[in-house]
Amino acid sequence: MVVVGRLVEFGSRILGISVIVFLLVYAYPRFYLSLMEAPSYFVEDFRGGGVVGFRYAYVGAWMVILSQLYVFSKYLVKYFRVRIRLARWLDLHCLLSVTGLVLVLIHAGFPYAFRYWEPFMRLNIFGGLEGLIAVRGLLTWLLISAFISGMLTRYGSSPRLKRISNKIHFYATLSTYVSASIHILLSLTFPETR
Ligand code: HEM
Ligand code: HEM
Repeated sequence: MVVVGRLVEFGSRILGISVIVFLLVYAYPRFYLSLMEAPSYFVEDFRGGGVVGFRYAYVGAWMVILSQLYVFSKYLVKYFRVRIRLARWLDLHCLLSVTGLVLVLIHAGFPYAFRYWEPFMRLNIFGGLEGLIAVRGLLTWLLISAFISGMLTRYGSSPRLKRISNKIHFYATLSTYVSASIHILLSLTFPETR
C-alpha cells in the first residue's frame, strides 16, 4: 500500500511538471516572436502579454520548473541510494525559484501595476473557461505563499515552524502548478482585450 502511495505521489509530480513543460513548449513560437520585437519600455510592455512581460514569464517559468530538479534528486538519494550532495541541489532550488519568481512577478505587474489584489476578484468557477481567466490573481498570491513558506522551511527559527511551513510549501506549490497550468492555457487561448 505504501509503495502504491509513493508511486502515485511520484507519478503526480511528473504529470504536473510535464503539463507545464508541454504548455511552455506550446508557447515557444510566441516567446520567439517576442524576442524579435523591440520593446518600448512602457509599463504595459512589462506586464502580462507585453513584449518584455511575456519574455519574463516564459524564462521565469522555466527557472521555477528547473528548480524542481532538487525534488527529483531527493528521490534518487532516497530510493536509489545515489550519492549526491543534496544541500547543493537545495541551494540551486532556492536560487532558481527566487530568480524565476522575480521575473514572473514583474510579468504579473506585482506590485507596481497589479490589478488583482483581491485573489478571487473576477474569478467565477461556474462561468466556464472565461470565468477562470482571472485565476492569474490567485496564482500570483499562491506563488508568493510558496516563496514565503519555502523561506521559512529553509531559514525558520524552530524545527516546529520548519515542519509546518514545509507542509504549507508542499500544498502551496501543488496549487501553484494547477493554477499556472490553467493560466498559461487560457491566457494564450483567450488574450484579454484591455
Ligand atoms: C516559488 C517556487 C517554488 C516551488 C514551485 C517550490 C517547490 C518545492 C517542492 C515541490 C518541494 C518538495 C516538497 C515536498 O516534497 O515535501 C520543495 C521543497 C523545499 N523548498 Fe521549495 N519551491 C519554491 C520556492 C522555494 C524557495 C524560495 C525556497 C527557499 C529559499 C524553497 C525551499 C525549500 C525547502 C527548504 C524545501 C524542503 C526540502 C526538504 O524537505 O528536503 N523553495 N519546494
Ligand atoms: C507562473 C507564474 C505566473 C503568474 C503569477 C502570472 C500572472 C499573470 C497576471 C497577474 C497577469 C495579468 C497581468 C495584467 O494585469 O495585465 C498575466 C497575464 C498573462 N500571462 Fe501570466 N503569469 C504567470 C506565468 C505565465 C506564463 C508561464 C505564461 C506564458 C508562457 C503567461 C502568459 C500570460 C499572458 C499571455 C498574459 C496576458 C493575457 C492577456 O492579455 O489577457 N503567464 N499573468
